[in-house]
Amino acid sequence: MQKILTALGAAAMLSVSTLSALADYPERPITIVVPFAAGGPTDTVTRLVAESMSKDLGQQVVVENVGGAGGTLGAGRVAQSDPDGYTLLLHHIGMATSATLYRKLAYDTLGAFEYVGLVTEVPMTIVARKDLEPADLKGLVDYAKANKDTVTVANAGIGAASHLCGMLFMTAIGTPLVTVPYKGTGPAMTDLLGGQVDIMCDQTTNTTKQIQGGTIKAYAVTTAKRLDVLPDLPTTDEAGLPGMQVGIWHGIYAPKGTPADVTEKLSKALQVALKDENVVARFAELGTTPSPEADATPAALKAKLESEIARWKPIIEAAGQYAD
Ligand code: MLT
Repeated sequence: MQKILTALGAAAMLSVSTLSALADYPERPITIVVPFAAGGPTDTVTRLVAESMSKDLGQQVVVENVGGAGGTLGAGRVAQSDPDGYTLLLHHIGMATSATLYRKLAYDTLGAFEYVGLVTEVPMTIVARKDLEPADLKGLVDYAKANKDTVTVANAGIGAASHLCGMLFMTAIGTPLVTVPYKGTGPAMTDLLGGQVDIMCDQTTNTTKQIQGGTIKAYAVTTAKRLDVLPDLPTTDEAGLPGMQVGIWHGIYAPKGTPADVTEKLSKALQVALKDENVVARFAELGTTPSPEADATPAALKAKLESEIARWKPIIEAAGQYAD
């Protein structure tokens, strides 16, 4: 009997200490891992949201860039972190496509994470170095087909949004091109601006200012309608490449086992951040909008990830591009 009472007492103590820890969460800075290099679109989105979440949570939310392998290295790092709410991941559509692209992932995409919520869905733009000859998308397609062994397409590795969009482009034109992988499209943009690489398909959160400034050439945007910030940029449908509509949705994850009270508290802070006027204004300048409050929830992100894995699996299998 004594042993039972001792065990019950210990369990009670444990639950009291856990409850008090949850009540005081967060008691120290939180890290959000960005699975791509600094200066790219994922980094940009994360830093804006993290700064605002810090205000609501009363603790610093710091960003750590862990690039490589199309975002799967950073995702794997978070999957193996302590489920205490102090290490999070902000990743995009690549969380879904990598589940098919990588037949040997270091983590179980649907089993290694808890969900906080959706953040934003960002359009993509087909862009090129400023002095590339073609003046429009049709000309770019003809140029790419005629120079398929020399034209270079930058991406951030298999599993990146830029890889996915590049894969859709090559499938649409029926021509494989030479791809050049980077740890993120931040460094890839540096080479595009310098003329060291020819083409890239990247998110407006990384290309809008360059397009507006005329430092890169832009051919199309992957949305159904033109963007207010880039009114002269035709959609892929208008420009003659139907079937290339793609939006890069982003979500925040925590390691499996993170308590629901913690992910719920983080989701509430995310919802506040997505209504922050600075976040809304900066997102608008970069061609995107925050996810609605109902989507910045664990259930919405879980449903999105599951449906997107199913959606992209046959498309990736038809393209036949795998990482391993
Ligand atoms: C980045 O943040 O560098 C991009 O999201 C990489 C990519 O997914 O293309």
